Amino acid sequence: MSNAVNYRLKGDIGIIEISNPPVNATSHAVRKGLLAALENAEQEANAALIVGAGRTFIAGADISEFGKPPKKPGLPDICNRIEASPIPIVASLHGTALGGGLEVALAAHYRVAVPTAKVGLPEVTLGIIPGAGGTQRLPRLIGAEAALGIITSGRHVPINEAYQVGLVDQISDGTPEENGLAFIHDLLSKGHGPRPVSGIPAPKPVDFDAWHAKTLKSGKGQIAPATAVRAVEAASTLSFLDGLKRERELFTELMASPQREGLIHAFFAERAVSKLPELKGIDPREIAKVGVIGGGTMGSGIATACLVAGLDITLIERDAQSAEAARTKVETFLKAAIKRGKLSEDAFAKITSTTFRTATEYTALAEADLVIEAVFEDMDVKKSVFATLDSICKPEAVLATNTSYLDVNEIAAATSRPQSVIGLHFFSPAHVMKLLEVVVADATSAETTATAFTFAKRLRKTAVRAGVCDGFIGNRILAYYRTALDNMVLDGASPYQIDKALTAFGMAMGPFAVSDLAGLDIGWATRKRKAATRDPRARIPTFADRLCEMGRFGQKTGRGFYIYEEGKRGGIKDPEVEEIIAKERAALGITPRSFTEEDIQRRFLGALINEAARVLADGIARRPLDIDVTLLYGYGFPRWRGGPMKWADIAGLSGILSDIRTFAAEDAYFWSPAPLLEHLVAEGRTFEDLNKEHTS
Ligand code: 3HC
Ligand code: NAI
Repeated sequence: MSNAVNYRLKGDIGIIEISNPPVNATSHAVRKGLLAALENAEQEANAALIVGAGRTFIAGADISEFGKPPKKPGLPDICNRIEASPIPIVASLHGTALGGGLEVALAAHYRVAVPTAKVGLPEVTLGIIPGAGGTQRLPRLIGAEAALGIITSGRHVPINEAYQVGLVDQISDGTPEENGLAFIHDLLSKGHGPRPVSGIPAPKPVDFDAWHAKTLKSGKGQIAPATAVRAVEAASTLSFLDGLKRERELFTELMASPQREGLIHAFFAERAVSKLPELKGIDPREIAKVGVIGGGTMGSGIATACLVAGLDITLIERDAQSAEAARTKVETFLKAAIKRGKLSEDAFAKITSTTFRTATEYTALAEADLVIEAVFEDMDVKKSVFATLDSICKPEAVLATNTSYLDVNEIAAATSRPQSVIGLHFFSPAHVMKLLEVVVADATSAETTATAFTFAKRLRKTAVRAGVCDGFIGNRILAYYRTALDNMVLDGASPYQIDKALTAFGMAMGPFAVSDLAGLDIGWATRKRKAATRDPRARIPTFADRLCEMGRFGQKTGRGFYIYEEGKRGGIKDPEVEEIIAKERAALGITPRSFTEEDIQRRFLGALINEAARVLADGIARRPLDIDVTLLYGYGFPRWRGGPMKWADIAGLSGILSDIRTFAAEDAYFWSPAPLLEHLVAEGRTFEDLNKEHTS
């Protein structure tokens, strides 16, 4: 028998223990082992118990096997085999029983669980549907409506809720083995035998078309959740065996889809970002007390994120009035966290009385383990803050800047300890957005970097390593594709048409709506700052300057590219903006032309991929997957496309390069192809090849 599954007889009960760390995924070895263990149990035992070794039951099929040729026995065969067993089979759950793991449990005749267990069928989050009977057995067990809720969302269901809908038979304290054995002894004493879920009558139909339409709409381009509705429908309209066949057909279709490839790439990429070879064996410093300097938009959000994570926070502002304003902002965010169930009333009371304080003197930071600066985006102000920190903070403190664009090396040089200085680039709103760019400067020590990654984990944020340049990974790429979009507006597209084309591609928001949210004054200030050094060949989006001159800074002033009405969500189009743009075009002597949705998407993606290739070549991002995660978590790139680099691999790099060369005919300066992209195309390689080079 394989080591992935241990089998032993205890009294008259066969214990089948899955042991495939870290999460007992049903790899080929586990499937073979399960089959062999079952055969043994049937020969010598009166009942069998399936448990997971270590921290969990089974977290699902082995995702790393997806896309490879399937190896027999498949998980559906195993599940059918378990269900058909002549002896009663009990699954005892702890940790998580997800995907194929829950399907194994559903194939068993009874299910017990510890109070902390969670169950779920998260397949749709990977671009597939449950493929080992989950869409047929779960609706039989708990009804179509409840099953649809679980399967189309992919959420992890707390065990109490699962018990209430009848998914598990019993919740007990104790080890999974003790719980399972006690349940079986009781079962045998009462003379109960196997109880296959497939024998339960088909679930009553619900309005499957309405579920399909609703799921398709909320999926924003994602197909798996809506496909799952059709599979559950089959449970209600077909026989059990035909339903299984239908599930397999839909599962196989999705398995071959680019969405599955994109989502699985995203799953592994988000876990790979924090694995940096230089941090192997490096211990992070302890972080308990954190200082935040500046309590504006970012500082108040950063302080909130730290407080929710249980850290002690001292926030420094320029004067008592600004400090009070910052305190009010943080408390408002914390109260919102209570409403969302992220913070308890008790924790709020403790924070406001004990762990959160504001101050106006930097000396209050003498004991801080980490200080995060979030003052105005001005190099002189930042340097003076860091020089002060250098004189006040303890030697082992980590000093971080939240700058969006400024040179972290220059900021570090204002201190006598550049090895302890790092960029921690949060995204707005900082207490909500998951991304944290960790900007490693020339002198930053590995210990400081390791501390930053551990700190990010504590805040439940996804940290990506970036190098120093104007805008790091994300904002540098954004600035470039944004220029391509502004140029299209100059040439005839409307901002509304561009926003529509890019949300149709799957972006969470249109880029012009995003600018309105962030404030148009930010881009205006950057254009002014860079005016003196701007290349004369670069085109200038004069229409954006005109809007700012009119005080149209976006949502905060009620008008930007869109008009924002009090109490209404989202903005409405403004014909005046189109007139202003038309005037600017005329003043520049441009005859407007039309762009199709596809034209807009191709230029957006061409610009994005071109600059991303330069960011890679410059070493600002080490691997394409770091760019994917940055754009997925910080810029609303659709997860089901895997991230821009994965999308580019799937779409084909040569087509993208050929687009860029075509666009270069009208603007050779902007559209000069990135040499790395040219090399990859010439050599027939992909961004995924570069990911592999870095992990091998
Ligand atoms: N297959 C292969 N590897 C898996 C895996 C799986 N199903 N689930 C997790 N892993 C790996 C991770 O890649 C990670 O590897 P690493 O240490 O080398 O980076 C390791 O296990 C630990 O995972 P996490 O870091 O995510 O650990 P957490 O404790 O934070 O989370 C978890 C545990 C909640 C189980 C989380 O890993 C998870 O959500 N896993 C995916 C669950 C899932 O989607 N299951 C459905 C699979 S599809 C399926 O079953 C199809 C079936 O219907 C036929
Ligand atoms: P903001 O203007 O809202 O807040 C800055 C705060 O710093 C003000 O409250 C000000 O009183 C305070 N301040 C200024 N000098 C100070 C000093 N010497 N000591 C103590 N407090 C001082 O600015 P915002 O938007 O919060 O930006 C802060 C930093 O974060 C900037 O570097 C910005 O580039 C960066 N950032 C901003 C993002 C955004 O979306 N707003 C996103 C990511 C980074």
